[in-house]
Amino acid sequence: MAAAKLVLAMLVVAVGVAAGEGGGKLRQGYYEQSCPRAEQIVKHYVERHVPHAPSVAATLIRTHFHDCFVRGCDASVLLNATTGGGEAEKDATPNLTLRGFAFLDRVKALVEQECPGVVSCADILALASRDAVGVIGGPFWRVPTGRRDGRVSIKQEALDQIPAPTMNFTDLLTSFRAKGLDVADLVWLSGAHTIGISHCNSFTERLYNFTGRGGPGDADPSLDAEYAANLRRTKCTTPTDNTTIVEMDPGSFLTFDTSYYRGLLKRRGLFQSDAALITDTAARADVESVAKGPSEVFFQVFARSMVRMGMIEVKTGGEGEIRRHCAVVNS
Ligand SMILES: *[C@@H]1O[C@H](CO)[C@@H](O)[C@H](O)[C@H]1NC(C)=O
Ligand SMILES: *[C@@H]1O[C@H](CO)[C@@H](O)[C@H](O)[C@H]1NC(C)=O
Ligand SMILES: *[C@@H]1O[C@H](CO)[C@@H](O)[C@H](O)[C@H]1NC(C)=O
Ligand SMILES: *[C@@H]1O[C@H](CO)[C@@H](O)[C@H](O)[C@H]1NC(C)=O
Ligand SMILES: *[C@@H]1O[C@H](CO)[C@@H](O)[C@H](O)[C@H]1NC(C)=O
Repeated sequence: MAAAKLVLAMLVVAVGVAAGEGGGKLRQGYYEQSCPRAEQIVKHYVERHVPHAPSVAATLIRTHFHDCFVRGCDASVLLNATTGGGEAEKDATPNLTLRGFAFLDRVKALVEQECPGVVSCADILALASRDAVGVIGGPFWRVPTGRRDGRVSIKQEALDQIPAPTMNFTDLLTSFRAKGLDVADLVWLSGAHTIGISHCNSFTERLYNFTGRGGPGDADPSLDAEYAANLRRTKCTTPTDNTTIVEMDPGSFLTFDTSYYRGLLKRRGLFQSDAALITDTAARADVESVAKGPSEVFFQVFARSMVRMGMIEVKTGGEGEIRRHCAVVNS
């Protein structure tokens, strides 16, 4: 059993993807000459720290996702608000992600020590996300690198472009398609919820006030009634609870596996955006195929979709810059 797990953890996924325009300029091992130890430094830091703080893994993936969906994967999500008062994407992200920013700042500092001004924050975020998945039992894959960092970050764009947990399938797919991703990417990237956690207030209306009528019985009918009752009783005991944390894949939220998909089929997806995945025929077929199969199948498709996501509207060549500190643009 332990040996089998080790093999899975070390599985190197061969990822073949049709690269998008900017994505085509990324390549594996981009820093081989300019900073040969860059990937290793990121990996070692993640391996040393994520086992003690596994929730950081979910945070890193979510941060990478948020980054790519707004202005492309250019680390704009890591920028602090400007002193001029303009709020940044960061100001639109839930507090749960704050820890990830400090983590990435520390990784960046180590990489800067080794090779100043060479490795972008956008690449560090992509690499750290990959390594964090590996540390908690998921796949390892090769991350194409060579992204450059953006110089602009605007809160409203994050509010407008990041798919909301309340979205139905149509709206989710529209949002993914706008970034060049498809139904399969939506299903596989949602699989990151296997290690997700959420505050009650992100889904509380599904428990208490789905139609706006409120009162007993106004729960989302697409959520398993027994599960909803259990959440009301033991976790989100009031409609206004905004502090209690709920695991998105209960019992297995620290392990990167396929039980999230089995939960969906039992109608126990926590967000409407999770429940939405089984409302579409094609998406549901994908969910069923990985829920039953061995983890390797999910690992391969997840890795492939992560690579595709990591290529969204990337900046390369002379675009953007290599930020010195991930929270501020170079002066
Ligand atoms: C960015 O903002 C955070 C939180 O407000 C702060 O702790 C950090 O020092 C800032 N970083 C820089 C480089 O200004
Ligand atoms: C969320 O972050 C804001 C600003 O950093 C802070 O004022 C607030 O107390 C935080 N809330 C929670 C629940 O941590
Ligand atoms: C999805 O939600 C949008 C509102 O955000 C609504 O206009 C649309 O009708 C919904 N689609 C389906 C199929 O329910
Ligand atoms: C239920 O939702 C409606 C509409 O969204 C809102 O007006 C009402 O205050 C909510 N009721 C409760 C108890 O939260
Ligand atoms: C949580 O709810 C309390 C009471 O409704 C409110 O005072 C507080 O600002 C809320 N915190 C966040 C982070 O939304």
